Amino acid sequence: MSVVIALDGPAGAGKSSIAKKAAKALDYIYVDTGALYRTIGLAASRENVEPKPSKEVEELLDKINVDLTFNSLGEQVVLLDGEDVSGEIRTPEASMMASKISAVPAVRAYLLDLQRNMAKTHNVIMDGRDIGTVVLPNAKVKIFLTASPEARAQRRYKELCEKGMDVKYEDVLNDVIQRDYNDTHRDVAPLKPADGCVIVDTTELDFEQSVDKIISVIKENI
Ligand code: DC
Repeated sequence: MSVVIALDGPAGAGKSSIAKKAAKALDYIYVDTGALYRTIGLAASRENVEPKPSKEVEELLDKINVDLTFNSLGEQVVLLDGEDVSGEIRTPEASMMASKISAVPAVRAYLLDLQRNMAKTHNVIMDGRDIGTVVLPNAKVKIFLTASPEARAQRRYKELCEKGMDVKYEDVLNDVIQRDYNDTHRDVAPLKPADGCVIVDTTELDFEQSVDKIISVIKENI
């Protein structure tokens, strides 16, 4: 049987970079479920469909095909109707669209099997918001990775600046606060620590310390 690590937490807690490195060290596959919501958000943007519960969103879901695959480096590639959209889903606009569309129950239901099937066939660290609470509540280890909104905004701001994007720290912080609010207040699968999870706060930890902490929590619990 495959070993499943559920890793949840708010936007910008460093989940993806920390989990990628930890997965490599442990020889697990890293699955970023946020990319799936971002891809559906992108599909909705392209088709001018509002990110709220509606017949249009359901029709869109019937029409599109979202899939996850891995390239030769073992990195996740997300496909929208066969097109690699892994880069296009990373803009601040795509983040906000993903946050809104992820509150639509039909979208969450649409992605459930895809996520569960990944965990059946591989040892995974699966990163998301509801992995330990809804998608894989029987995961061997559940971790809730968090940090203060200011620490998370500062990290995201640095990342965007390094990519050459022209952004203001205040806007990034407001985005983080808005997305936290959206993610924790939606009716379906709101972001919250799962029963039995280990809470890891990285506000005072640097990247390497956070990776070490996650690896030690996993090793202690499998
Ligand atoms: O992890 P991320 O920032 O790429 O996620 C994008 C959005 O998708 C985020 O606002 C919350 C949502 N999301 C979700 O609702 N459930 C998940 N399992 C993963 C992401």
